[in-house]
Amino acid sequence: MSEEGSPQFHEVCAADEIWAGEMKEFTVAGTPVVLLRIDDESVRAVQHICPHQDHPLREGDFDGCTLICGAHLWEFDVSTGRSINPDDAKLAMYPVEERDGSIYVAIDGIKTFHSHA
Ligand code: FES
Repeated sequence: MSEEGSPQFHEVCAADEIWAGEMKEFTVAGTPVVLLRIDDESVRAVQHICPHQDHPLREGDFDGCTLICGAHLWEFDVSTGRSINPDDAKLAMYPVEERDGSIYVAIDGIKTFHSHA
């Protein structure tokens, strides 16, 4: 049980399962999440579907900075979760901790974003 202000983190995978520029989808306590290791070696966790029309983001392209949805090529800066093109959408971002050789993610209270069609 987590208390307000201290999210409960779940162990997701070994830290070396994701290298810089890679992304993988995992299920964290029943919630699908995409983990991405960006160019500065830190890890981000974002919603698993595109806010546009729910296409799985794991099927897109990721270059270590920008995630491009494979359906209609919307682009997202995964260091912030904000979209680049178009510039008025965003991805839900989950808190991530990397420690003791593992990656942990908290999902409580975070909702998937949807955008205009
Ligand atoms: S569903 Fe991702 S850009 Fe349309």
